[in-house]
Amino acid sequence: LEYLHNAAVAVDAEGLIVAIEKDLDLSTPSLTRSAAHSLLSKLNWDDSSSSVEITSTNPSKSQFFFPGFIDTHLHASQYPNVGIFGNSTLLDWLNTYTFPLEASLQDQAKARKVYTRVIRKTLSHGTTTAAYYATIDVPSTNLLADLCLSFGQRALVGRVCMDQLGPDYYLDASPEDSLAATEATIAHCRKIDPSFGLVKPIITPRFAPACSAPLMKSLGELAAATNLPIQTHISENVNEIALVKSLFPWQEIGARDDSYAAVYDAFGLLTEKTILAHAVHLTEDEASLVAERKAKVSHCPCSNSAITSGAAKVRWLLERGIPTGLGTDMSGGYSPSVLEAARHAVLVSRHLAMPDAGGEEKDKLSVEEVLFLATRGGAEVVDMKGRVGGFEVGMEWDAQLIGLGEEEEEEEEDQGNVDVFGWENWEEKVAKWVYNGDDRNTKKVWVKGRLVHQRK
Ligand code: GUN
Ligand code: FE
Repeated sequence: LEYLHNAAVAVDAEGLIVAIEKDLDLSTPSLTRSAAHSLLSKLNWDDSSSSVEITSTNPSKSQFFFPGFIDTHLHASQYPNVGIFGNSTLLDWLNTYTFPLEASLQDQAKARKVYTRVIRKTLSHGTTTAAYYATIDVPSTNLLADLCLSFGQRALVGRVCMDQLGPDYYLDASPEDSLAATEATIAHCRKIDPSFGLVKPIITPRFAPACSAPLMKSLGELAAATNLPIQTHISENVNEIALVKSLFPWQEIGARDDSYAAVYDAFGLLTEKTILAHAVHLTEDEASLVAERKAKVSHCPCSNSAITSGAAKVRWLLERGIPTGLGTDMSGGYSPSVLEAARHAVLVSRHLAMPDAGGEEKDKLSVEEVLFLATRGGAEVVDMKGRVGGFEVGMEWDAQLIGLGEEEEEEEEDQGNVDVFGWENWEEKVAKWVYNGDDRNTKKVWVKGRLVHQRK
């Protein structure tokens, strides 16, 4: 984690970072203004123009800019169910809670309400990029894409493909229907955002047990033909893994072995643009295959604890060269916050490091590492490395203004659970943010230079 103290960042009208100046004297508001003006004149920008805006942090309130969070896995359609999962585990959770809710979003008015709220809520927690699953319904999935574009959230939008396992009332009628519906959403995204500058479609086979072999084969071919990303779930739950083995005899589908990862690979779904959610129980051989194909993993610790799936070994994944990011996996996970996912990632890694779990000290993830997973790590997972996830010239301004407050007794702003006394150094302030921060500390959020959230 690199700290840029006394720095200024210039962002152009397209939201691109065009200059970063360090070691400026920003000790007073007037020195800050003059530093900004000298940067503008260096760039030959007309700083008399009303289109130039200067935003600065307030050091006395422990404010700082931080790259926007990237949620590499969440179900927009499941948002109304957050916190509602009882003692269920994956397969009964899907049948009891998830499929009925997703099916109900065929009602466009309901879908609009739910999707509007999920976008507003995740933006308020600093999520500037989201890899969304919608439902099998095309019109409401397309509506999710429209809403992301109008609220200004960077998004991958996936129309869910499933032609088996689901209840009769919530299934694609055939592999051909499922493929055609996916193509309809791709065409819609191309129409509303031709360069996919903000909103991009993503090919979304729900998970192997819910997709027939012909469906997975056609989606693999579609991915190859369009060069679009793919998202799915893998090796989340032990019963799910057994189900995959029984549904897809490996010799019959021409897989290289009897593993879960080999099923996706047999259908061309394991690519360098594939986001695999969970990967809790991957074997050593599967990790090698995933790494060989350059596929990515979305680690969803809140979900894995909540629906009792297991503890994914992030250090082990990283050591095998598998790019990893964080996912909230709402509503398998109960929180819309990537900061919460980061905190859970720390705790899960510490459980794995305990002697009872056979772990070691090195298995622990640090504050800095989970913040990496939430930003630059996530950017690689969603195939946006070098574009978002950090502050560098040439990257886009997807950012949050974080405020932790001050030691004053009477504050006019609510700083939530974070309590700053004034003696903390910046490393300690950031640690306080990771362990006790929430949306009350997220004062403003920008995507591509556009202000998309401001805390009242
Ligand atoms: N596997 C298949 N569908 C789902 C889903 O909606 N959530 C999670 N966590 N796992 C899944
Ligand atoms: Fe999921």
